[in-house]
Amino acid sequence: MAGTTQTTAHEHWGSRLAFVLAAVGSAVGLGNVWKFPYITGENGGGAFVVVYLACIALIGLPILIAEILLGRRGRMSPINAVAATARREGRSPAWAGVGLLGMAGSFVILSFYSVIAGWALAYVGRTATGTFAGADAATVKAAFDALKASPWQLVLWHTAFMALTAVVVGRGVRHGLERAAKILMPGLALLLVILIGYAATTSGFSAGVDFLFTPDFSKLSTHSVLIALGHAFFTLSLGMGIMIAYGSYLAPGTSIAGTALSVVVLDTVIALMAGTAIFPVVFANGLEPAVGPGLIFQTLPLAFGSMPGGALFGALFFLLLTFAAWTSTISLLEPTVEWLQERGQGRWPATIKAAVTIWALGVASALSFNVWSGYTVFGQNLFGALDFLTANIMLPLTGLGVALFVGWGMSTASASEELGLGETLGFRLWHLAIRFVAPVAVVVVFVYNLL
Ligand code: TRP
Repeated sequence: MAGTTQTTAHEHWGSRLAFVLAAVGSAVGLGNVWKFPYITGENGGGAFVVVYLACIALIGLPILIAEILLGRRGRMSPINAVAATARREGRSPAWAGVGLLGMAGSFVILSFYSVIAGWALAYVGRTATGTFAGADAATVKAAFDALKASPWQLVLWHTAFMALTAVVVGRGVRHGLERAAKILMPGLALLLVILIGYAATTSGFSAGVDFLFTPDFSKLSTHSVLIALGHAFFTLSLGMGIMIAYGSYLAPGTSIAGTALSVVVLDTVIALMAGTAIFPVVFANGLEPAVGPGLIFQTLPLAFGSMPGGALFGALFFLLLTFAAWTSTISLLEPTVEWLQERGQGRWPATIKAAVTIWALGVASALSFNVWSGYTVFGQNLFGALDFLTANIMLPLTGLGVALFVGWGMSTASASEELGLGETLGFRLWHLAIRFVAPVAVVVVFVYNLL
């Protein structure tokens, strides 16, 4: 029986703070600083931001609450937590398939995520050694293009990042990393403030802020809405069971809604800060906001190259970004490792097997930027196709499953008992969101995009 053979793969959270840190550590990552600005750039700016914020508030937050609730109710790994809760509620054990789809998503996301995290790692050394001092936009772009064009460098940095991830996961997520996150996340926020200060001195500040915060809905397509929805899931680490797993170690009595709200607010603030730091530099230097995945690597070095102490601040910034990505990759590797452990493997062998397989898939993503760039899937390179498939298809589908299960599969009494909110207005609003708003929105966005 799934429930009785369950082994504990994670350590337990000592406190609510530890849980919030781990959840924020998972949520805040490349999604906030790398992906959010570039997809905003590609999708026309302010109007996209409005849709994204609506997705976060109406779909992301309710589903985050639902995932944590499910984890704490089931008290097991994602697949088994859903299975156990389904049994308890007299529902079909087939609901556990939701957890399975999520696990597959984590596997694929990690493979390309590690490639990009490797770029951040590469930029620590580049900025520290003053590569960008006084550089102009063309030089910075050439340096980035050279990195992307080099299969060896990309594979090397990707390998380094997977190794970093495996070392931590193999040992179990130690308090060292959680404690580090407590110092590093505020550090990242502080450096973003410094960068925003710099951005405010550039001639592009008002253009950048306008681009980000003044909506022009004529620039929005239904495809953009799908991207915004997918990103809401990606940035909050939803739709993969991560938050179910993390929630399973949350102490009874801790406020789930309050905790989820702090995760969402922190995550959103960091993304908006990153956008505010980046777009003024884009406009001040006559760059294109829609350059895609290379956006921060082609803009921020310009800022660092022209500010006093730029080599130091630049190296620190990319180091903190590396750490933010690291706390996310750990959470991405965990579900696969846990699943292998449940099949009777030791923690280290499970970690190494999972990491090596994911690494190999990542190598294919890395090569899709150069030697294999000629091969395209749905008109994109492999990296782009995997990103699209996971973030915009798999995560929302898993999220839909979670919403349907918690909203309809579980009784209102169980949900309200677990949340501890009684029948308050807050509970009713959440229940409405999880039963109707979130599932309908996901289905509508999907149907529009498939037709
Ligand atoms: N949320 C992380 C980011 O924004 C990435 C991430 C970590 C993730 N765990 C996840 C995305 C689980 C989806 C599902 O960078």
